[in-house]
Amino acid sequence: MENDQLSSAELPFTRDQLVQKLKDALTDSRFHHVLRVEQTAMDLAKTNHVDVKRAGIAGLVHDYAKQRPDADFIQAIKHYHLDPELLNYGNAIWHGVVGWLFVKNELRISDIEILNAVRYHTVGHEYMTPLEQIVYMADYIEPGRDFPGVDEARQLTFDNLKLGVAYQTKQTLAYLVENNKPVFPQTIATYNSWVPDSGLK
Ligand SMILES: [Fe+2]
Ligand SMILES: [Fe+2]
Repeated sequence: MENDQLSSAELPFTRDQLVQKLKDALTDSRFHHVLRVEQTAMDLAKTNHVDVKRAGIAGLVHDYAKQRPDADFIQAIKHYHLDPELLNYGNAIWHGVVGWLFVKNELRISDIEILNAVRYHTVGHEYMTPLEQIVYMADYIEPGRDFPGVDEARQLTFDNLKLGVAYQTKQTLAYLVENNKPVFPQTIATYNSWVPDSGLK
């Protein structure tokens, strides 16, 4: 059954305990964002036949590291011998690509799909499981989001999760290019994997 698929080894804290940890780690507005992502991820899980509890937990913890000081990320990049190229970026990239390690170590979550969902939630990945796609999209379309095209993104995502992934990936790259911002290499790899031949209009 859906709710039995996470063993206590994979999830030593209850959902309520995790909620408290997120509340302690985040500003009030970001805390409410993660609760909306949790709910949206659960809604998308239902329509895509993905484990609802795992999707909810992944949505809840996806921004756990968002408000950590830069020094924590820089220390982790060095300690874990991650790609030194990461040092050229900042919190926007680090909180997922590095932040999953804090989720693993501090929230003691060992479920690899939940950890990868956190890791890929901003930059995506060439290969994303449905659960990983769900967190990527739930972060983008949760009800508090308001940007041109958000309604189209919501409809597309609930109709066809993969098309939603293509839509967000294209919009993100277009935004970065339009604003002369640096593009993290993984974002380009994600684009090449998900956008061409996706059927996106
Ligand atoms: Fe995030
Ligand atoms: Fe987020």
